[in-house]
Amino acid sequence: AMHLLLPLCVLWLLPLAWTLEEDSPLDCVPRRSFPYHRDNAHLFHEEGVFNYSTMLLREDLDLLLLGAREAVYALDLKDISKKLASVKWEVTQQQKNECKNKGKDLETECKNYIRILHQTEDNRMYVCGTNAFDPECHFIFHTEYIDLTLEKKGEDGKGKCPFDPFHRYASIMVENNLYTATSINFLGSEPVLMRSSPISIRTEFKSSWLNEPNFVSMTQMPEGYMSEEGDDDKVYLFFSETAVESYKRVAYGVFLCSQGDLGGQRTLQKKWTSFLKARMDCPVLESQLPYIIQDTYRFCDPQQDWRDCLFYAIFTPQSDKSDLSAVCAYRVSDISRVFAEGKYKTPVPVETSFVKWVMYSGDVPVPRPGACIDNAARKANITKTLDLPDRTLQFIKDRPLMDQAIQPIGNKPLLVRRGARFTRIIVNQVQAADGEKYRVMFIGTEEGTMLKAVNYDGEMFIIEEVHLFQTPEPIKILTFSNLTGQIYAGSDYGAAQIPLATCGRSLSCMDCVLARDPYCGWDKDVRKCVFLSNSPRGLIQSVKKGDASLCPEADPVKPMNRSIWPRGNLKLRCPSPSNLSKTSWERDGSPVMASTRLQLLQDGLLILNATDSDTGRYRCLSVELSKAGRYTATVADYQVSVAPAGSGDGSGILPKARMDGPSVAGLQAIVGLLVVSLLGLLAWNFYKGHLPLPWNCTKKKNEEQTQETREQGGLDAYQDAARSAPAEDKPLVSGANNGRSNNHTGREESDGPKVSLPSLQYIDDESEV
Ligand SMILES: *[C@@H]1O[C@H](CO)[C@@H](O)[C@H](O)[C@H]1NC(C)=O
Ligand SMILES: *[C@@H]1O[C@H](CO)[C@@H](O)[C@H](O)[C@H]1NC(C)=O
Ligand SMILES: *[C@@H]1O[C@H](CO)[C@@H](O)[C@H](O)[C@H]1NC(C)=O
Ligand SMILES: *[C@@H]1O[C@H](CO)[C@@H](O)[C@H](O)[C@H]1NC(C)=O
Ligand SMILES: *[C@@H]1O[C@H](CO)[C@@H](O)[C@H](O)[C@H]1NC(C)=O
Ligand SMILES: *[C@@H]1O[C@H](CO)[C@@H](O)[C@H](O)[C@H]1NC(C)=O
Repeated sequence: AMHLLLPLCVLWLLPLAWTLEEDSPLDCVPRRSFPYHRDNAHLFHEEGVFNYSTMLLREDLDLLLLGAREAVYALDLKDISKKLASVKWEVTQQQKNECKNKGKDLETECKNYIRILHQTEDNRMYVCGTNAFDPECHFIFHTEYIDLTLEKKGEDGKGKCPFDPFHRYASIMVENNLYTATSINFLGSEPVLMRSSPISIRTEFKSSWLNEPNFVSMTQMPEGYMSEEGDDDKVYLFFSETAVESYKRVAYGVFLCSQGDLGGQRTLQKKWTSFLKARMDCPVLESQLPYIIQDTYRFCDPQQDWRDCLFYAIFTPQSDKSDLSAVCAYRVSDISRVFAEGKYKTPVPVETSFVKWVMYSGDVPVPRPGACIDNAARKANITKTLDLPDRTLQFIKDRPLMDQAIQPIGNKPLLVRRGARFTRIIVNQVQAADGEKYRVMFIGTEEGTMLKAVNYDGEMFIIEEVHLFQTPEPIKILTFSNLTGQIYAGSDYGAAQIPLATCGRSLSCMDCVLARDPYCGWDKDVRKCVFLSNSPRGLIQSVKKGDASLCPEADPVKPMNRSIWPRGNLKLRCPSPSNLSKTSWERDGSPVMASTRLQLLQDGLLILNATDSDTGRYRCLSVELSKAGRYTATVADYQVSVAPAGSGDGSGILPKARMDGPSVAGLQAIVGLLVVSLLGLLAWNFYKGHLPLPWNCTKKKNEEQTQETREQGGLDAYQDAARSAPAEDKPLVSGANNGRSNNHTGREESDGPKVSLPSLQYIDDESEV
């Protein structure tokens, strides 16, 4: 039936073809995209040092600790381009040689990559590095004078820090207990999730527990705090691995009782008695294989219970063919319900060597396998995991897998985007001018860009995309400081610091409102787009609808004079203010129609082989659609007149060689080809069940698609012409100080602590430690 329907539907859809392609939510475009500019962010980079991928916030000291290859830096939290101290941690020549003899690469693998950086309860820092495939950990001191000092005597880092710098790992420090997920052997074949504490606990080495895992992140949840059931705090671990039940790689969440798990008495001695895992689903329309988890961010509203905390997780496809990335969010209460009440999976042998994992429907022992010791267990005289009966322990040892998968909120992603893959995410909540709280996602990508996106009642909206680094380097770490209101990003090349919003980039009220950035609003009195909490006055903002009708009349655009010569060419510039808007031109009040002599380019109008009739008043209008309406703004205004003879300064006049326009026949061929390929695409999409699409995503609406295609046809031929045309290069940010003045630190910028020059020293005497 599908095949019969197909031609019918294609015919029916034909008039809609262009609109549908434009509306595809898998192609959600950022409203604005900012190329690299040194004012986009404060940057830190030290000559010859790479791999800035570990961070520790020390808001108590106004410091950002940054771990790189063979070095740890203490940077000013308010401006990370200021280095306050540093300490080198290099591998010795002997270690290098040993590493090389084991077959590892001297220049890359046989170096020391800082992987773990945590604060201990006595305010020291604990740092681990790969140390030329021989992981080691040290304490770092920070003295009154902001020196960083590495304790000379190291500790064995096996099981805490990966051997291989290219392996992913996860770790957290809770009350001086270090939880780590990594590989414990040189070959990287023995994965382990362990707690290093007076009584160390780790995972059973069994493929049903961990099977070629790729560890992603770890978080603590204070579920024991004032718990009525006498529950324990939890540690959540996220990773992907090859599923024992399907042999596909899937995402998993693991849940552990953090403090109280001391292992079993006979069974599971010094092993977790609470290791339970469940699959995490993030259904993205296109995929055959499950998507792979890449990062998570725990978001808790301080005014709400832990049960309402959310995990935001990034997913990317397994195959290189797809370039989609998605964000799914999970409610902690949904996660804990699966673990606390869900069914288990159990292995059943089907053939001699094969096992199949199916739902376990037999009796479940009491206390429930994998559950923490709670008041009910205590009543039964089980006060610690060592008291747990063998039946419970044997059950969890054999069946650590839940049958049910954890589903995201709304059973679908919050955001899907085609393009550079997502790598890291953080989420910040802001109360907008309408009094509602919005959760803004900041997403790092493989190309070193930062996306800022919000899901407004199911509508995906990417406010902007900012290029943080000059070269496209993957974002390897993201951190947010609530104290400074700044986001810190690390890549192989360096670290960058950006504010939550740079409202000053919007120069008009309409742009400020249509940006739908919950941090920014238009201040009528100062006529500026300002950071919300910086302004005591009521601001114009409409994040859900983008209603710009509240804006006062915009300042008229100053007309500019341009002159042309007969038979000369002229380009009138008009950069589109937004990727969701469409620009159009009018001359003396009537619309300019594209022709072979009048080319409508993306960033302007090109007049070729001019005649006297081309003179007049040209206005470039931009039309942007939002939910509330259609808003037109004048972007540019030109008075074009014929140049007085002999006065040509050459500006705006292009070489004659560029004057040949593409033939109309050529254009028709291009349009024809496009239509055919689009039909093919549409049919394929339909066949694959990709239409209709369940999500909304604000898109550029375009009624004049066919015309645009013609313009595009002409565009290629004139790209060079456009490039050589004069262009006013404006800085992206109107002042170098913009970033900082727009943050929401509510604190006076005070002079930093008095800093003496950093010095590097080792403490030889252990008694000082
Ligand atoms: C629109 O998107 C393109 C590609 O991402 C980008 O190069 C361009 O700068 C964007 N335009 C605006 C106004 O942000
Ligand atoms: C470290 O940075 C270098 C230079 O950018 C890069 O080629 C290399 O892959 C990075 N190594 C790791 C382990 O990330
Ligand atoms: C718990 O232990 C106490 C003292 O050892 C004993 O009196 C009581 O009967 C036990 N309760 C149960 C339910 O086993
Ligand atoms: C972050 O800081 C703001 C004030 O600056 C405060 O209201 C909020 O509770 C803080 N959030 C957290 C999670 O500490
Ligand atoms: C443009 O030309 C008009 C008359 O030719 C003149 O009055 C006006 O000042 C000029 N504007 C600018 C910005 O040069
Ligand atoms: C430019 O226009 C004139 C008539 O206005 C025409 O004779 C000439 O062929 C045109 N040149 C080109 C290259 O199209």
